[in-house]
Amino acid sequence: MGYLHQAIGINARYHRHQKAWQTHIDNSQKFILNAADNCERKRKVVLMGAAALHDLPVRALAEQFDEVILVDLFHLWSTRWLAFTTPNIKLEVCDLTASLADTSAGSTDNSIPGAYLDDDDVDLVVSANIASQLPLIPIEWLKQTSKIDADQSYRFGQKIINAHFEYLGQFSATVCLICDLERMTTDQTGSELSRISALFDLPAPEHQASWTWDIAPLGEINKKQATSHIVIASVMSQNSDI
Ligand SMILES: C[S@@+](CC[C@H](N)C(=O)[O-])C[C@H]1O[C@@H](n2cnc3c(N)ncnc32)[C@H](O)[C@@H]1O
Repeated sequence: MGYLHQAIGINARYHRHQKAWQTHIDNSQKFILNAADNCERKRKVVLMGAAALHDLPVRALAEQFDEVILVDLFHLWSTRWLAFTTPNIKLEVCDLTASLADTSAGSTDNSIPGAYLDDDDVDLVVSANIASQLPLIPIEWLKQTSKIDADQSYRFGQKIINAHFEYLGQFSATVCLICDLERMTTDQTGSELSRISALFDLPAPEHQASWTWDIAPLGEINKKQATSHIVIASVMSQNSDI
C-alpha cells in the first residue's frame, strides 16, 4: 500500500533536516526516558511505530528493560542491524490498526486492536509519532480503490485514531503517547498561513508536554512555505504495580 516507500521517505527527510528535527527528537526521547524512569518494573517495553528509531531512545531502554519490542509493519535495515546485534531487542511486525486486511479489500470497517494486551510482562508501551499516521495511507488507498469521498475519509480517520487511543487505554502498563496534534504552514517570515488538526478534529488527549516539530523547513516542499507539527506528549496511564 506504500508503507515502505513512506518509511524510506521519512528517513531521507530526517537526514536532510537533522538539525531542524533535533529539538523534536530530544524532547521525544527525554519524555520517553522520564516515563521509563517512573516504571516500577522494567520487564518488557513495547515501542509502536519504530520505523528508523529517530525519536526512540532504544539503546538506553535496552539497558534498563529485560526486553525491547520494536513494532512496525516492517523494519528498516538500520533497525534490523540494531536488533541483530543487541540480544534483548526484538522486531515484531504487526498491523496496529488491526484493520488493514479490511482496508485492502476496500472496506471502511475497522477493529479495535488487541496486540500485547494479554502480555502481563509489558511494563511500558510507547506510541511514538504514529497515531496521526495510522489512517493516512489507508485513506489514500480507499480513495483510489473504493472512491470514498471527503466525508467518508474524515470519519474513517477519526475511527482509526480513536481506536488507537482506546487500545492504548486498555493497557495496565505505563502508556506513553507522543503524537502530532496539528499541522501548521508558515511563510518565509514565519507568519502562520494555515493550521489543521492532525487528528481529524478529535480532542487532544490530556498531555503534559507540547512542542513544535519543524518537519519540513523552507525548501523541502517549496521555497515559500514551511510545515511544522505541533506535537503533544502524554503519560496516559502509569503502572504502579510492584
Ligand atoms: C512517522 S513514523 C514514526 C517515527 C519513528 N518513531 C521514527 O523515529 O523514525 C510512523 C511509523 O508508523 C508505521 N505505521 C503506520 N501504520 C501502521 C500500522 N497500521 N501498523 C504498524 N505500524 C504502522 C509506519 O510504518 C512508520 O514507520
